[in-house]
Amino acid sequence: MAEFKEAPAGASAGTKLMNWVDNRFPATKLWNEHAAEYYAPKNFNFWYFFGSLALLVLVIQIVTGIFLVMNYKPDAATAFASVEYIMRDVPWGWLVRYMHSTGASAFFVVVYLHMYRGLIYGSYRTPRELVWVFGCLIFLCLMAEAFMGYLLPWGQMSYWGAQVIINLFAAIPFIGPDLAILIRGDYVVGDATLNRFFSLHVIAVPLVLLGLVVAHLIALHEVGSNNPDGVEIKAKKDSKGRPLDGIPFHPYYTVHDIMGVAGFLIVFTAVIFFAPEAGGYFLEYNNFIPADQFQTPSHIAPVWYFTPFYSMLRATTDDLVNVLCVITGLAAVLNFVKGKGSIQAKVVALVAAVIGIFLLKTFDAKFWGVVVMGGAVVILVFLPWLDHSPVKSIRYRPGFVKYLYAVFVLFFVVLGYLGIQPPSAIGTLVAQIGTIFYFGFFLLMPWWSQLGTFKKVPDRVTFESH
Ligand code: HEM
Repeated sequence: MAEFKEAPAGASAGTKLMNWVDNRFPATKLWNEHAAEYYAPKNFNFWYFFGSLALLVLVIQIVTGIFLVMNYKPDAATAFASVEYIMRDVPWGWLVRYMHSTGASAFFVVVYLHMYRGLIYGSYRTPRELVWVFGCLIFLCLMAEAFMGYLLPWGQMSYWGAQVIINLFAAIPFIGPDLAILIRGDYVVGDATLNRFFSLHVIAVPLVLLGLVVAHLIALHEVGSNNPDGVEIKAKKDSKGRPLDGIPFHPYYTVHDIMGVAGFLIVFTAVIFFAPEAGGYFLEYNNFIPADQFQTPSHIAPVWYFTPFYSMLRATTDDLVNVLCVITGLAAVLNFVKGKGSIQAKVVALVAAVIGIFLLKTFDAKFWGVVVMGGAVVILVFLPWLDHSPVKSIRYRPGFVKYLYAVFVLFFVVLGYLGIQPPSAIGTLVAQIGTIFYFGFFLLMPWWSQLGTFKKVPDRVTFESH
């Protein structure tokens, strides 16, 4: 146990109270370690707003969620009406509900930008691999949280969206059909499904999410933040051991982040007050119709933040599986003829490719669609080990990398757009090209990330005071 410290003679009542607390709980120590004496690089830019904004949205979702639960009824017979009751009769209920529904989309906007920042500045590289891995787990949780939350209003889209997605699990060989029943708690989406999704949405997943966010920040503060130059500021310290290019998080970034918060709140409130449905993108029009298990909507599409992945699922047809077989075969042959590894390794790769092609042809394309969709998220976890570039930040990478990232973003947006549209022949083809590009981007990264001429990374961060 640490020794009790006396407050200095003549100290104010506030200092004495803080001293009393510090002798029992490390409040000042924690504040200093994580804010007042936490040195962050001085060259943070616009992209560094999104971490604190993600925290803000997390708090908004939890607080508005608590108030929604006070009037929401998790019962198939009354759920839809209880949401209408919140919207029409509960004082300020409409505001709380719109904050929560807009907050869901805002969460994904903010988190996608936050992840993109990580990608362009190589924030996932050593020593921040775990910061990134925790981030990916947060992203998975966020997807589960949003998916289950969407069932709760018990509208047509809630119902049929859940039906379609849960049915995907049935495509998994051997265990699929039983797994789907386990998730639904019934043979079709019903009251049991609503009850378990409610329980998971309001308590289980948020708990895991909060735990992961804490782990994310502890890991980040252990290694320190990266910055737009990808220069490790801990490498150059003053005589007191403080990074030369670091500034205390508080007050510099606490104040700086207020600007991001203000900008965010302007957009967030504008959507809430003027366009809460966002043209059917945040709240789909079909979801204002109560769930009807005898009437399938003509077009079922998930909410926008899932659509890039949904598009990849739909793009996985028998044709795409055939293309994947050809790519796998060609890659193995090319590796055998031109690869640098030992002959044993080449033979192993060849055998693995044959097994891969056999499996691709044995199971249904629908199953591979599920694998592709899940794989598109899981592959992100491996990013720290796929990138072999000698530098972190895009600023010092060869020029072509910028174009590559631009095409990546373009395909991601196009996939998202196609996922909202009804299927079409040309749409499927573009989505297939996008899917191959998406996976190619990651799987070939060990190769392309080393190509080209790199610029010299400076010793210190680049910064112009403003
Ligand atoms: C609820 C969701 C999340 C919250 C609240 C959150 C919060 C934060 C905060 C406050 C920071 C420090 C400030 C900043 O660098 O912007 C941060 C950094 C970071 N986050 Fe997140 N994050 C979330 C999700 C994610 C996801 C999904 C990923 C990636 C898959 C991710 C990857 C990172 C990385 C790599 C850093 C370090 C960035 C750097 O030092 O350059 N985070 N996060």
